[in-house]
Amino acid sequence: MSKTRKYSQDTILTQLGRDPDDYYGLMNPPIVQASTIKYKDLESYETKKGQKFTYANIGHPLSHHFETAMAELEGGYRAVSSSTGLAPITASLLAFLKSGDHLLMCDSIYPPTRIVCEKLLKKFGVEIEYYDPLIGASIKDLIKDNTAVIYLESPGSATFEVQDVPAITEVAKDAGVITIMDNTWASGLLFKPLAHGVNISVCAATKYIGGHADVNLGYAVADTEENYKRLKAAHVDLGHCPGSEDLYLALRGLRTMKMRLEHCAKSALKVAQFLQTRPEVRRVYHVALPEHTSHEIWKRDFTGANGLLSFVLEDAPKPAVAGFMDALELFPIGSSWGGYMSLLQPQIEINWRKAVKWQEEGTLIRLQIGLEDPDDLITDLGQAFEKFGDMK
Ligand SMILES: Cc1ncc(COP(=O)(O)O)c(C=O)c1O
Repeated sequence: MSKTRKYSQDTILTQLGRDPDDYYGLMNPPIVQASTIKYKDLESYETKKGQKFTYANIGHPLSHHFETAMAELEGGYRAVSSSTGLAPITASLLAFLKSGDHLLMCDSIYPPTRIVCEKLLKKFGVEIEYYDPLIGASIKDLIKDNTAVIYLESPGSATFEVQDVPAITEVAKDAGVITIMDNTWASGLLFKPLAHGVNISVCAATKYIGGHADVNLGYAVADTEENYKRLKAAHVDLGHCPGSEDLYLALRGLRTMKMRLEHCAKSALKVAQFLQTRPEVRRVYHVALPEHTSHEIWKRDFTGANGLLSFVLEDAPKPAVAGFMDALELFPIGSSWGGYMSLLQPQIEINWRKAVKWQEEGTLIRLQIGLEDPDDLITDLGQAFEKFGDMK
């Protein structure tokens, strides 16, 4: 966006990553199907000079538009894009870690990120230590001579702990340690990791950016040219390449993302408040509830919430728990979030936590609140609780 005035986020989202003059005046850059890209001559083949693109899995017009948009939205130097949200997580960890390094990993991470640590990074000799997401500046005590990366995810998966990012990045900078943060919850919009000192911000565009449960896409934005080069090298080596249709849909999704997020956040708060009134619910996790552990820090650092919330359903025999879930009409069980429809997902991986063990009795359930009328969602939950009551 090469406009001169300073615009609000709503306006910026309408402008990012498109330039009609490049495409006969078309408002949206079209889907391009590409692998081979012609070189101008031998010199451009050998030096890459004057070649905007060289091979489509390293970059093509649509990935360029999407990456430019995301680098600008996150306030970074440049971005890479990949075919899933997990791919830039793996690429950024591999870019900044080597055998013998120590990685400080947030304990409330997205479970597949933990699998990357346990199955992949450990195999290559990376030492992994999980830390309490609420550790703040005390992370200083965990830094060792070989600590190379501190990885953050904020709010965390399942229970939404918000990390004190400025406190952690200050310590990391003093120690010369790289920080990588999963910013998917904020979708590049509600929180700006790089402005808070993070080096690499990663995000699954599969969620709110795509917004319609039909896109697989991720990106990572680097703060500096040097960090971008390391990130891009790992990204290319891993052969990460997003699909053109997904890039197109993500650019389209960006235009309406803020409105969708606002609607979902408002509905999620209403549903969370309803859940708080139910005797079958032991605890509700949603950052906009004043009772949430991280409510104050979320208010300090974030400009809004999304549609995710979790709750602990009281301990009950398995058939009653299954009966509750299966009785819901508007909450199918499914992975992912950020789409237009509500979803339910049991959070069984909560028991994987190491730094702060999960102590609650009962079933932890995550709800993704979509664009339905929240009163319909509440009615649906209400009737499922009645069935649960009859079965427990
Ligand atoms: C916090 C977080 N990060 C990353 C991902 C990975 O995204 P994808 O499913 O596109 O690989 C997810 C997916 O659920 C997620 O919740």
